[in-house]
Amino acid sequence: MSGLLAGKRLLVTGVITDASIAFSVAKLAQENGAQVVLTGYGRLSLVERIARRLPEPAPIIELDVTDPVHLDGLAEKVREHVDGLDGVVHSIGFAPKSCLGGGFLDAPWEDVATALHVSTYSYKSLAMAALPLMSPGGAVVGLTFDATQAWPVYDWMGVAKAGLESTSRYLAMHLGERGIRSNLVAAGPLRTMAAKSIPGFEKFEAAWAEQAPLKWSLTDQEPAARACLALLSDWFPATTGEIVHVDGGYHAVGASR
Ligand SMILES: NC(=O)c1ccc[n+]([C@@H]2O[C@H](COP(=O)([O-])OP(=O)(O)OC[C@H]3O[C@@H](n4cnc5c(N)ncnc54)[C@H](O)[C@@H]3O)[C@@H](O)[C@H]2O)c1
Repeated sequence: MSGLLAGKRLLVTGVITDASIAFSVAKLAQENGAQVVLTGYGRLSLVERIARRLPEPAPIIELDVTDPVHLDGLAEKVREHVDGLDGVVHSIGFAPKSCLGGGFLDAPWEDVATALHVSTYSYKSLAMAALPLMSPGGAVVGLTFDATQAWPVYDWMGVAKAGLESTSRYLAMHLGERGIRSNLVAAGPLRTMAAKSIPGFEKFEAAWAEQAPLKWSLTDQEPAARACLALLSDWFPATTGEIVHVDGGYHAVGASR
């Protein structure tokens, strides 16, 4: 087996369509020598259909990251397919409608709580559920959308991402002594199912087209996936609590308006 992730065993969450960032991660990981186990949420038959488009078959385990029963049983279910894990990919996000699209001031706590549970707290829950299978050198990688500023229409999802970025740093601190890293990729806007559920998402698309120093493709998940692979690999052995921007350089330049 050759490739950047030769011999590595990965758990990849978040595949729902072939536009999912997680799909690109799983595909690229297999192409680079990794063995991939997927988790699926909700419409498992859809996840199965999409998984058939991967270069190699990948087992799928049902996982709702807010379900303690699923989390408690995860390690045992993963062990049916691989004898350990070298990497875990968290590619999960959800916020109820009220939390997005300009409703920041009116979203009720119950909806905000759901957004934070699924998109923020779950990063820690997933890592802990997989921890019994992990050993020194292992890595957890998640996806964020730069939370250092407030964005139009992103609202409580932006707050959830700020929490995710902090959660990753705390996870890095608490898992460091076990030799396990935690890092995030801050991707630019990509036309996935999650993105399409954000009313006004096209505002991001226009901003990127205007401002990103590098040409940014809204339909190419591979640059973000490549960064995930790099962080899962042995090529970032001393990097943890980090956020790697894969946004065409947007975050680095001032707004032109
Ligand atoms: N698309 C973008 O523009 C963009 C940019 C930066 C970061 N991200 C982040 O990338 C990650 C992946 O999103 P995507 O854009 O590939 O969209 P996507 O819709 O393809 O993936 C989101 C995934 O979250 C899963 N999910 C939702 N609730 C869940 C739950 N309770 N338990 C388990 N899984 C659950 C869905 O099943 C889906 O597979 C998210 O964290 C998202 O916020 C996306």
